[in-house]
Amino acid sequence: MKNFLAFNPVKLHFGKNVVQELGTSASSHGKKALLVYGGGSVLRNGSYHDTRKQLQAQGIHVTEYNGIKPNPRVENVDEAAGIGRTEGVDMVVAVGGGSVIDSAKIIAICIAEGSDAWEVMTGKHKPASALPLIAVLTLAATGTEMNAVSVLQNSETQEKIGYRNELIYPVHSFLDPSYTQSVPANHTAYGVVDLVAHCLEAWFGKGEATLSDRFVISVIKEAQEFGPKLMKDLDNYELRANIMWAATCALNNLTIYGRESGDWGVHALGHVLSFLYDTAHGATLSIIYPAWMKVLKERAGDRILQLGKELWGSSSVDQSIEGLESFFKSLGGPLKCQEEGIEAICKNEILSLMNKQDAGGMNFSLSDKEREELLEYMF
Ligand code: NZQ
Ligand code: ZN
Repeated sequence: MKNFLAFNPVKLHFGKNVVQELGTSASSHGKKALLVYGGGSVLRNGSYHDTRKQLQAQGIHVTEYNGIKPNPRVENVDEAAGIGRTEGVDMVVAVGGGSVIDSAKIIAICIAEGSDAWEVMTGKHKPASALPLIAVLTLAATGTEMNAVSVLQNSETQEKIGYRNELIYPVHSFLDPSYTQSVPANHTAYGVVDLVAHCLEAWFGKGEATLSDRFVISVIKEAQEFGPKLMKDLDNYELRANIMWAATCALNNLTIYGRESGDWGVHALGHVLSFLYDTAHGATLSIIYPAWMKVLKERAGDRILQLGKELWGSSSVDQSIEGLESFFKSLGGPLKCQEEGIEAICKNEILSLMNKQDAGGMNFSLSDKEREELLEYMF
C-alpha cells in the first residue's frame, strides 16, 4: 500500500428536501451569488426554484448564467466568470449535472483569480484561491459533487481534459434523489455506466490496495443490483437514491486510497469521442470499456479475471468481458459506435486524434497499434 492523505472537505447533504438547508448554508458565504445551470432541465424538476427560494429567503442577491452544455465548453466558463466578476459575487451556486458543476468549479477559480479558464485547466495558471461553490446535483453519474475534478473541452485545441485541484471541492453539495427522477432513460443508463467505469479505472490503476478493491466491488454490486431495476422503474425514489449515493462513492477518493493512481485510459479515449461527436460521456465508456478489455486481455488478464470472478462468478477472461458487456447492455448502454450514430467512416478521424493525444492510461499506456485494434472492437 502506498502512503496517502485521506481528505475530503465536502459537506454532503443527502435525501429528500435537503435543499431546505441550502439557504442557511449559503448565508455564511456572502450576499451575492452566481447561479449557474444548463439547458433548462432544472426549471422542470423543481431544483432551480427550490434553490432560488432558499437564496432569496436569506436576502442573497442572485445573478444567473445558463446555457452550460453537456460536454461543457471553456468559452462558457470564461463568459460566466466575466459576469461573476462584474457583479462582484461572493459564491457560485451550481444546479445540474456534472457538466454544470464542473463548469462552476472553474468559474469559481476564474472569478477569484481573474484568470483565463484554459490557462487554469492546462496548469499554466496556478490558482491560489477560488470562490466557495455550492452544488445542487440533479444527475447521478460523475461524482463531481464530492471530488476536486473538473472536465472541460476546448474546440481550438481539440481537447477534452480533466483538471484536479483541492480548491474546487464544493463546500456544500445537496443531493436530493427526487430531482433525478426526471432524468431520461438514456442518461440514467449512462450515469450507471459512468459510476461503474470510475470503479474500473480505480481497479485497473497502479498499485495494490485491498480495501480500496473491496470498495470497488461493493459499489459495482450496488449498480448491478439497483441499476437494471431502476431502468424498469425510473420514477422510483429508493432506487434513484441507491444509485445516487453509489455514484458519489465511486469517485470521492475511497476507491483510490493506497494506490499510486487510477488508470483513466478509457476515460481519455472516451473524451475523444465526446469531443468529436458530442457523444454523452457515459455512452463513450459503455462502448470503450469492453473493447479496451479485449485489447488488454493479455496484459491485464489477471485483473480482468479477478473482477469477473467477484462480479459474475466468471471462470475465464472472456467470460469476464462478456459479463461486463451483458451488464451494460442490460442497462441500455451502447456497445458499438454505430448505436450512437458514429459510422465506420469516422474510424480514421477517431484514431488520428487518439494517436495525436497518445490517449491511454497511467497504468496501461497504449501503442498506436493497440488503439487501431481498439477501434475495430468499437465498431
Ligand atoms: O442541460 P440540461 O438541460 O440541464 O440537461 C442535462 C443534459 O442534457 C440533462 N439533465 C441533468 N439533470 C437532469 C437532466 N434531465 C432531466 N432531469 C434531470 N434531473 O442531462 C444531460 C446530461 O447532463 P450532464 O451534466 O452533461 O451529464 P453528467 O452528469 O453525466 O456529466 C457529464 C460530464 O461530466 C464529466 C464528463 O466528461 C462530462 O463532461 N465528468 C466529470 C467528472 C468529475 N468532475 O469528476 C468525472 C467523470 O468521469 C466525467 O468525465
Ligand atoms: Zn466518468
